[in-house]
Amino acid sequence: MSADPASLYSRKNPFPAPHPVNRKLSGEGSGKDTRHHEISLAGSGFNYEVGDSLGLFATNHPALVSEIIAAIGATGEEVVPGADAVPKPLRAALTGDYIITQPSKEFLKALVERAGEAVAQLRDLMADAAQKKALEDYLWGFEFIDFLLAHPSVKWTPEEFVKTLRKLQPRLYSIASSLKANPESVHLTVATVRYESHGRPREGVASTFLAERWPAEKTAGVFIHTAKHFRLPEDPATPIIMVGPGTGVAPFRAYLQERKAISASGRNWLFFGEQKRVCDFLYESELAQLQADGVLTKLDVAFSRDQAAKVYVQDRMRENARELWAWLESGAHFFVCGDGARMAKDVDAELHRIAETEGGKTLEEAAAYVEAMKKEKRYKKDVY
Ligand SMILES: Cc1cc2nc3c(=O)[nH]c(=O)nc-3n(C[C@H](O)[C@H](O)[C@H](O)COP(=O)(O)OP(=O)(O)OC[C@H]3O[C@@H](n4cnc5c(N)ncnc54)[C@H](O)[C@@H]3O)c2cc1C
Ligand SMILES: NC(=O)c1ccc[n+]([C@@H]2O[C@H](COP(=O)([O-])OP(=O)(O)OC[C@H]3O[C@@H](n4cnc5c(N)ncnc54)[C@H](OP(=O)(O)O)[C@@H]3O)[C@@H](O)[C@H]2O)c1
Repeated sequence: MSADPASLYSRKNPFPAPHPVNRKLSGEGSGKDTRHHEISLAGSGFNYEVGDSLGLFATNHPALVSEIIAAIGATGEEVVPGADAVPKPLRAALTGDYIITQPSKEFLKALVERAGEAVAQLRDLMADAAQKKALEDYLWGFEFIDFLLAHPSVKWTPEEFVKTLRKLQPRLYSIASSLKANPESVHLTVATVRYESHGRPREGVASTFLAERWPAEKTAGVFIHTAKHFRLPEDPATPIIMVGPGTGVAPFRAYLQERKAISASGRNWLFFGEQKRVCDFLYESELAQLQADGVLTKLDVAFSRDQAAKVYVQDRMRENARELWAWLESGAHFFVCGDGARMAKDVDAELHRIAETEGGKTLEEAAAYVEAMKKEKRYKKDVY
């Protein structure tokens, strides 16, 4: 979906964008590889707002494509249907059209039919609807290549294999820049996904494409994904509280750029968290400059691994409960971005607690207060 109906480009017709800047933000000693990316949008006509995300069509890792081709005994030249049904060489289809990491249901079904007793555990789990969770646990961390290598006697023609695959989907990234400050390019803050499972190193498709496989001059398809639910308050005088640990800081960098560009008078408070101050303090000098400029009114940081006990953004909220409550009571909007599985739930719980302790509310009244904030669109989340 394009934010600007006047633009020629959209998810269906992505803009071919070059990638001039790919800079590591994580310092030496970090357990992460989080990067700052700048993608040129010159000529796209995109007219996004801060809070929106960028959609990216990435391609699969060529080494994994080659491994799969070899595992099914093909050459890569065989012609197969692409995801758009147009015939193309197997290598091109596996590179750009299909998911070749997490195995599809269709593939697993076909494998069970062909491999019989050799995949008895998988067969039994798939046959019993009550075992859905056990099946998920069993499959966690397995990829197509593991099954292909474990069962070399099961034969697939290139077309049979491709017909079990699902279409590769674009990935979304929070826009980390304001058009007013950066009219020609869009900035992203991306954590490169790498992990090991079942004895093999694995790579996230799009985050490693951004980190390693998208040279500056080459183009990749991008589009704007609008996020009307995640906009700055209309009134530039309204204070905002932003909770953005890790890559969750991305949209707040954009908010701060925007508020600086329009000389907004509203106060801005950021809670940021990461593992270690020395190597994981993303955008440290920029944030210091924004504080010196008077744009970032207050910055509270929580480095979880700099001491024996974990310290998280919600701990900093609790330490600042009285002031945070005063901001909320003065009409501040409250934003959360980043990990949805754990962080956003814990931050939500802390918000409820602050309404109880500082607002003198009962459990039910605190819940009603937070609910009212949501209804008034003063409590906004973009979590993943
Ligand atoms: C609105 C929105 C905004 C976002 N903004 C950002 C952003 O600003 N920055 C950012 O970095 N990301 C952001 N994301 C997440 C981003 O879209 C991708 O999901 C992320 O980069 C991973 O994509 P990938 O293609 O690299 O990995 P994928 O190829 O999709 O691989 C990820 C998958 O690998 C598997 N996996 C991951 N870790 C393990 C493990 N340890 N063990 C076993 N399996 C594992 C899981 O199945 C997981 O779903 C956002 C998402 C949304 C929806
Ligand atoms: N679902 C998962 O298990 C999982 C795990 C990691 C990352 N992710 C995903 O990976 C992507 C990128 O992550 P990221 O590198 O940006 O940062 P991140 O993994 O969210 O980490 C940022 C900071 O948040 C801390 N944190 C961990 N649990 C928290 C909680 N419950 N409440 C508050 N803070 C918490 C981390 O501490 P510690 O790391 O020291 O605990 C770290 O200091 C996101 O999509 C995220 O959702 C998911």
